[in-house]
Formats: sequence, C-alpha cells, structure tokens
Amino acid sequence: MSDSKRLAGEKAIEFVEDGSIVGVGTGSTVAYFIDALARIRGRIEGAVSSSEQSTARLKQHGIPVIDLNAAGPLPLYVDGADECDPHKHLIKGGGAALTREKIIAQASQRFVCIIDPAKRVPVLGRFPLPVEVIPMARSMVAREIVELTAGQPVWRENVVTDNGNWVLDVHGLEITDPVALEQRLNQIPGIVSVGLFARRPADVVIVGGEPPLVL
Ligand code: A5P
Repeated sequence: MSDSKRLAGEKAIEFVEDGSIVGVGTGSTVAYFIDALARIRGRIEGAVSSSEQSTARLKQHGIPVIDLNAAGPLPLYVDGADECDPHKHLIKGGGAALTREKIIAQASQRFVCIIDPAKRVPVLGRFPLPVEVIPMARSMVAREIVELTAGQPVWRENVVTDNGNWVLDVHGLEITDPVALEQRLNQIPGIVSVGLFARRPADVVIVGGEPPLVL
C-alpha cells in the first residue's frame, strides 16, 4: 500500500510549475509528495500548507511555508483522499485537516488528488464522513445530521483540529448525490466544514501503481 502511495505522490511532481507556490494537503500519501517536492525545492517559490503536520515536514525539508493570504490564487493543490468516486468527488478529513484542505482546494486552479487503489469506490460513504464542528454545537449538529440523513454521527473523541474544533464521523451513509448532501450539511449552524469535496471535486486523480494511473 505504501508503495502505491509513494508512486502517486512522486507522479504528482509532474504537475508542479517552475517558480510557483504549491498547495500541499495532509496525510501519508502527501508525505511522499512532500519528500519528492524537496528534491526539486530550488524550482519552486514555496508551499501553502493545510496542516501543522505538513508544515513541519515542509520545514524539515527547507521548503518555505507561505501564508495563503500572501500567496493569492494557487496554480496547483496536491492532496490525498479517503474515498474517491468515478466523478472525482471525494471524502476527506480522516486526518482531521478537512477545513484547511477545503480552503486551499478552493483557492487553487487545479486540484490533483493522489490515492492508492483501495480509495476508489463506486459510491461514497463506506468511509465515515468527517464533519468539523464548533465544540458547543457538537450535540445539536449530531441531532440535525440524524434528522437529515440515514447516518450515525460519532464524536472523534480526543481529537482537536488545528482550528481548535471537534470532528464528528458520520457512519452508514450511501452518498448518491454528494453535491446535494454537501450543500445541505453546510447550512447547519455550527458545522465549520464537511469532508465532502463534491462542489469542488478533484480535477485530476492519480492512482498509485506501476505505472500510476492518471484520471
Ligand atoms: C486529511 O485530513 C485527509 O483528508 C487525508 O488527505 C486523507 O485522510 C488521506 O490520508 P492518507 O494519504 O494518509 O491515506
């Protein structure tokens, strides 16, 4: 598995433009991308990071980490996913970094998603859908989700996001209309962001393998 993650991460380097600032996601697949980015670090201006975890790895490699407000629109965002459907709609947030990931994806012209083959699914939902919530809204949001969906929200206890919030993982969903579900959940007060990337799906998906598959 880690070999397919590495192959996907290394392939994504082909999408990096010289002199650019690169948006960088979070997770074990992205870690391979960061390591590969380090080998060409002289060719880029720096990176915008989606988490403290990725920031630490970028800095270890001597890659400048740039604030998104100073960077402006980015040509490229590279990130992993927990599930990917045939329309390049994604579930993300297994690493609790979904909000910053969504912000950077939105700020980027091209979103290249790097996954191992096990992440490909016909319909999203077997992986519990992460939802970042303001702590005081946790129970209320959970009740709203139960009313609105067939899913069961479970509090990811002992996890605090980089933004100081909590995460609910919604089990038991079969997400046949990801755009509609994302829009509906986004309207519940107290939800900071939903780990469904459907309104802004990936543009390119790289499935790690020999050779990697570019979709
Ligand atoms: C982080 O919050 C997630 O969105 C990750 O991108 C996702 O969990 C994929 O992680 P791996 O690359 O570790 O499988």
